[in-house]
Amino acid sequence: MSTKKIALVTGANKGIGKEIARQLGALGCVVLIGARDAGRGKAAAGELRAQGIDARPIKLDVTDETSIQAAAAQVEREFGGALDVLVNNAGIALDGHGTAASSTELDTLRKTYETNVIGPFAVTKYFLPLIKAATAGRIVNMSSGLGSLTLNSDTTSEYAQVKPLAYNSSKAALNMVTVILAAELQCTAIKINAACPGWTATDLNNNSGPRTIEQGAAIAVKLASLPDDGPTGGYFNDEGVIPW
Ligand SMILES: NC(=O)c1ccc[n+]([C@@H]2O[C@H](COP(=O)([O-])OP(=O)(O)OC[C@H]3O[C@@H](n4cnc5c(N)ncnc54)[C@H](OP(=O)(O)O)[C@@H]3O)[C@@H](O)[C@H]2O)c1
Repeated sequence: MSTKKIALVTGANKGIGKEIARQLGALGCVVLIGARDAGRGKAAAGELRAQGIDARPIKLDVTDETSIQAAAAQVEREFGGALDVLVNNAGIALDGHGTAASSTELDTLRKTYETNVIGPFAVTKYFLPLIKAATAGRIVNMSSGLGSLTLNSDTTSEYAQVKPLAYNSSKAALNMVTVILAAELQCTAIKINAACPGWTATDLNNNSGPRTIEQGAAIAVKLASLPDDGPTGGYFNDEGVIPW
């Protein structure tokens, strides 16, 4: 059995997720590269291994309950029954540009919630027994400042200028999932927090953001490595606490 910490990052075959995996690997974790496409996961893990990271691909579609259960069973079998870190990073943004919020297609809303809300919850649900078996489990939910009700209703905030209904409301729902699970897990050693990477250039936004993936990954890595007296049930970016 490995004495290294085991970290699972969902949607780690590219973008911020792959960079979170790289940074956690550089801190000494064995990183499990969650990817819905086995080939893309294998390629990303190979790329990270070439950089000296102990990265292993694991097939995991966060919208497929069977896939999540199979991945949890695999981790239990292969890594001594415990998972130290779970980063629920996989996410999608489907809202069309220029579409009025009130015209959002129901299918867009359903698909977005499947990946951005039900997905992270389902992965947490099925991996929780393994996270409870770790000495100091850490769960990070990749949210967004766009999920902040406070910032989105503050007309002076830059976040209030960006209003894709499906995406923003999915991240607000993920924030509530974080708060509720943190309350349930309060009496355990587990810490669960929501992270905002900032506007980061990735495929999600046609590589339009001003931040690099290194910058975007940093807050999730910090929350994944919190000390025992660190916060739980919070919402953070690089600068500190974000208002819900
Ligand atoms: N970029 C930003 O400015 C920004 C800002 C705030 C928050 N975020 C959040 O940060 C996270 C990472 O986003 P990113 O910018 O790195 O986007 P990205 O480059 O598009 O990467 C998204 C990742 O999620 C994966 N994914 C999508 N659906 C999945 C599913 N059903 N099962 C498993 N994996 C799935 C993708 O896999 P495939 O390659 O198979 O599609 C990909 O690996 C997301 O939660 C996003 O909402 C990003």
